[in-house]
Amino acid sequence: MAETQNWNKLSWHKFPALQQPNWPDKERYDEIIQTLSLLPPLVFAGEIRDLKAVLAKAVRGEAFLLQGGDCSEEFSRCTAPNIRETLKVLLQMAVILTYAGNKPVVKVGRIAGQYAKPRSSDTENINGLEIPSYRGDMANSADPILEARIPDPDRLMKGYHLSAATMNLLRAFTRGGFSSLHRVQAWNQEFVRQSPMGRSYERMAKQISNALKFMETIGISTDIPQLKEAQFFTSHEALFLGYEQALTREDSVAGGWYDCSAHMLWIGDRTRQLDGAHVEFLRGVRNPIGIKVGPSHDIDNILAIVERLNPENEPGRITLITRFGYKVIDKYLPPLLRAVKKSGYHVLWTCDPMHANTFKAESGHKTRDFDNILSELRCFFELNWVEGTVPGGVHFELTGDDVTECIGGARQLSDAQLGLRYLTTCDPRLNAEQALEMAFQIAEMIRSS
Ligand code: PEP
Ligand code: CO
Repeated sequence: MAETQNWNKLSWHKFPALQQPNWPDKERYDEIIQTLSLLPPLVFAGEIRDLKAVLAKAVRGEAFLLQGGDCSEEFSRCTAPNIRETLKVLLQMAVILTYAGNKPVVKVGRIAGQYAKPRSSDTENINGLEIPSYRGDMANSADPILEARIPDPDRLMKGYHLSAATMNLLRAFTRGGFSSLHRVQAWNQEFVRQSPMGRSYERMAKQISNALKFMETIGISTDIPQLKEAQFFTSHEALFLGYEQALTREDSVAGGWYDCSAHMLWIGDRTRQLDGAHVEFLRGVRNPIGIKVGPSHDIDNILAIVERLNPENEPGRITLITRFGYKVIDKYLPPLLRAVKKSGYHVLWTCDPMHANTFKAESGHKTRDFDNILSELRCFFELNWVEGTVPGGVHFELTGDDVTECIGGARQLSDAQLGLRYLTTCDPRLNAEQALEMAFQIAEMIRSS
């Protein structure tokens, strides 16, 4: 791969950077960035290349991307049970998609660094007082008081350390036996086990366990890494560019620059300006890059961004994460699919059915309806089939926890129940049971692909 022209990890400073916290203590901020730039990377270039290779398979329809996790991770919820439950539900969804959908699944968490949030407004009105918006735990605190909302650069350092702790546990869980397919039945959680979805999962898991037993009985070893370990990758929105710059390192073995804060990074719908700092920064690192595309996009502009970020048209480099909303996906997706197909750019088409389906419930909670999410997903698959393109992945906000943030699903969670366990500080997530139900539905769609 050729060197990226006129790029270095500081070149983004010459471009307008939207959605950056207004750090009041600039000196302390510079100090933190400098310290971070000397700390160990969180992921390695070789792993990033492995992810790009499997995403290239997904572009061709030979694998499927499952990306999901919290809207916004929280420092106070960086605990072993939380990390374990999120991993478990992603492993369960992946096994459903692999077994029922008949396709290998690339697992990418919104985890170990999803601490920075873009906001539609710089300030928020709390009881008549205008205070800065919450921008993710790596900038300020979600507490609705003025002092808590002042950006604090020490939070960048804390975010790095908690990402490292999360990464460490994820590595232990995925390599140390916890994620072994032999434990497929044990991933089902107690509160899910009793539900219709939990029972469907249980049946499938039993079939897998029986298949493994059968193989052992006839003398085929199941003591192999493909069964005993899981390949799991991390991702977050590359938003706070000082932090991303500090974690960007040159690969000492093969050369080239990699943002070692996560395996995959995405650019949000609000920061994907062609001549903005985010595109400038990401064009020089070799990680797989996601680009969120919402209804306000311009097709030629998206093509120009894809060209800028992937001039060599390397498959696996670009994932387009469309998030149009169930009501308008049929208006926006087909022209985009056609234009990209005509251009010859290799992209992985994925659907985020969450971000354009948010609304305020009568109870006042920000929520999403399971049926609307599913409806956008169905349209996404069908529109791809019509255009002859590959529906290659899905992107969810979800948690392994028993939360009540999205309405609907098999248990018909109602608006009145949202207050029971509404824990998110940002967007509403699917709970473990809703996530499994979604996976069974997607598996059907993959199977028909
Ligand atoms: C997100 O993924 O949490 C997000 C803010 O998405 P978008 O940029 O698509 O609005
Ligand atoms: Co969100």
